[in-house]
Amino acid sequence: MWMVLYIAFLTVLLIQAHAQPGFISIDCGADPGLSYTDPVFGINYVSDAKLINTGVIGNISSEAIIDTYNQRQLRRLRSFPEGKRNCYKINVTGGSKYLIRTVFLYGNYDGRNMLPQFDLLLGPNHWDTVFIYNAFIYQSNEIIHVPLLDFVQICLVNTGYGTPFITAIEFRTLKNDTYVTQFGSLELYKWMRCDLGSRKAYRYSNDVYDRFWYALNFGENWNSLNASIPYSLNQSDYQPGPIIMSTAVTPADDSDPLVIRWGPQDESDRFYVYMHFMEIQVLARNQTRQFNITRNGELMVPNFSPRYLAVDTLYTSSAISGKEIEYSLERTENSTLPPIISAIEIYRVIDLQKPETFQGDVEAITRIKSVYGVKRDWEGDPCSPVDYLWDGLNCTYDNEFPRIKALNLSSSGLSGKIDPSISNLTMLEKLDLSNNNLYGEVPDFLSHLQHLKILNLEKNDLSGSIPSALVEKSRKGSLSLSVDQKPYPCESAQCNKKRKKNTVTPTVASTSGVLFLLIAVGTLWILKRKKSKEKFTYPVAVNHLSGISQKSTEKDNSFQQRKSQMYSYNDVLQITNNFNRIIGKGGFGTVYLGFIDETPVAVKMLSPSAVHGYQQFQAEIKLLIRVHHKNLISLIGYCNEGSNKGLIYEYMAKGNLREHLSGLL
Ligand SMILES: *[C@@H]1O[C@H](CO)[C@@H](O)[C@H](O)[C@H]1NC(C)=O
Ligand SMILES: *[C@@H]1O[C@H](CO)[C@@H](O)[C@H](O)[C@H]1NC(C)=O
Repeated sequence: MWMVLYIAFLTVLLIQAHAQPGFISIDCGADPGLSYTDPVFGINYVSDAKLINTGVIGNISSEAIIDTYNQRQLRRLRSFPEGKRNCYKINVTGGSKYLIRTVFLYGNYDGRNMLPQFDLLLGPNHWDTVFIYNAFIYQSNEIIHVPLLDFVQICLVNTGYGTPFITAIEFRTLKNDTYVTQFGSLELYKWMRCDLGSRKAYRYSNDVYDRFWYALNFGENWNSLNASIPYSLNQSDYQPGPIIMSTAVTPADDSDPLVIRWGPQDESDRFYVYMHFMEIQVLARNQTRQFNITRNGELMVPNFSPRYLAVDTLYTSSAISGKEIEYSLERTENSTLPPIISAIEIYRVIDLQKPETFQGDVEAITRIKSVYGVKRDWEGDPCSPVDYLWDGLNCTYDNEFPRIKALNLSSSGLSGKIDPSISNLTMLEKLDLSNNNLYGEVPDFLSHLQHLKILNLEKNDLSGSIPSALVEKSRKGSLSLSVDQKPYPCESAQCNKKRKKNTVTPTVASTSGVLFLLIAVGTLWILKRKKSKEKFTYPVAVNHLSGISQKSTEKDNSFQQRKSQMYSYNDVLQITNNFNRIIGKGGFGTVYLGFIDETPVAVKMLSPSAVHGYQQFQAEIKLLIRVHHKNLISLIGYCNEGSNKGLIYEYMAKGNLREHLSGLL
């Protein structure tokens, strides 16, 4: 018992001691949920399982394990035999500066002994093409980058030269005021982060930021110095570890300058160089070490003397480029000692500024993907790069951020309701959700999509009324709306109630002479009760009514139809779903969208306050009795219950309704 407690206590202590603030260390291919402390460097690694949904776990071959020097994170990997682009999504702090490193050790995990080559993307940006040089030596790519958003996507792209894979991903938070560039991010240039004079490479915990320091010794031209120095140094903001600073180089010949020179492949490449200096020798009274630092012949720092056991990091705020780049440290005339340098870092500017898709759109489409379990190769940034645009999307690149302007998920096996997150795709112009199993109402939020021009909801199981705002848009011609409607879900209770009411016509007796006349003349058009779903396509005319007028002349059911011309106020409430969709308004009343069975109708209710309302009401009925023209609206029925007076018209999707109603209102 005591033993167990003691061990548990110790474990907690160990974890706390090894957790590295500002580090994200991901072991790709580790078992889900696994978290451990690497025995060599003491870095806490976590499994990548929560950060990616794709890929296959691989184990490097036993011969490769020997070379990993117990670095557990190198032994497993995740490979991507499927899909063109596979992405990790890693939460970070937007606006913070990170050293981001990807690590690759092939280790003949697939037994094929074929070194792959693939592309590495950071969000929508091309980071690098990864060439695996050696099956048994791990290699890494490093950048210093400030993510704008609160996540970073690292994507591996299959370019047709073997299966992409990845071994580890590491993020290290750096100080924001270090490695400042005028433009772009920094890519470590040819592993040129050099611990000069050293024979060993170092990383954490010898370096607080876990930068990889490579040993560099230029042999005959340079002398290596090393000194034992205290662990706690007077540091610069860049904090190269004491062990890095404990070695240094000077020119082999005291009178020679110390020169660092390279020729970039591309003359337009721009570089930033960081040089770390510290005096590690105790100088005698009559000794001085002083030198000028020049860059391509231009004096950058005159008369520089490194301080004893105090780190100075020198760099320029602007980048340098050219056919050949040369940094030279030349001793001044006063100096008795040659120049000295402890460490140097060379970075190439890399443009990773191509913006990610607008975050609101990304969040919305990610939600849509998960709500409907979309089975598509939807990985990485939805819109960028254009080459890997998500299937079913179209984007506009005219804004600061790419925006989703079309979403086509037709025939994608979607089921459920139309998700509200769609309304967050605010730049949407086309939405095609046709031929799925979507049910529920056509939601009103679709009418909030200001740019929507095409909305196709056909071949779903949608029900309820179409939001009036959408109807309005389609009538105006600004929206092409296609929807199969089952507008009035006939729940048994309602249907029975309604049927009963239709058969009882107690109000007939109290109706005015005009109304009696109306019935007697029997010229009103009655809608057929439709049992099947009615197909609507806006703004194409809905012609179901023309067929109905023929049916209504059939003798055998004409009596029934006449009776149904009169509707009670309760009927009207049901037809209009409690007047919830207004489609027009005028001086004499308000027009509502309603449905009789499954057929849309326009219900105009006379406003009680309208002084001339009643006369208008009568006049309108008279007018409609006289005029029967196929381009005019037909009256279907009326309601005349005390002060509740209403007219029910056929619904004209063509635009006629609006014209006629505005004339009549
Ligand atoms: C500096 O002084 C030491 C004696 O303290 C002497 O041996 C040495 O030669 C002097 N060096 C120079 C450069 O004057
Ligand atoms: C959506 O995709 C389907 C099939 O790919 C196509 O037939 C349809 O025209 C597309 N819809 C729109 C609005 O472009």
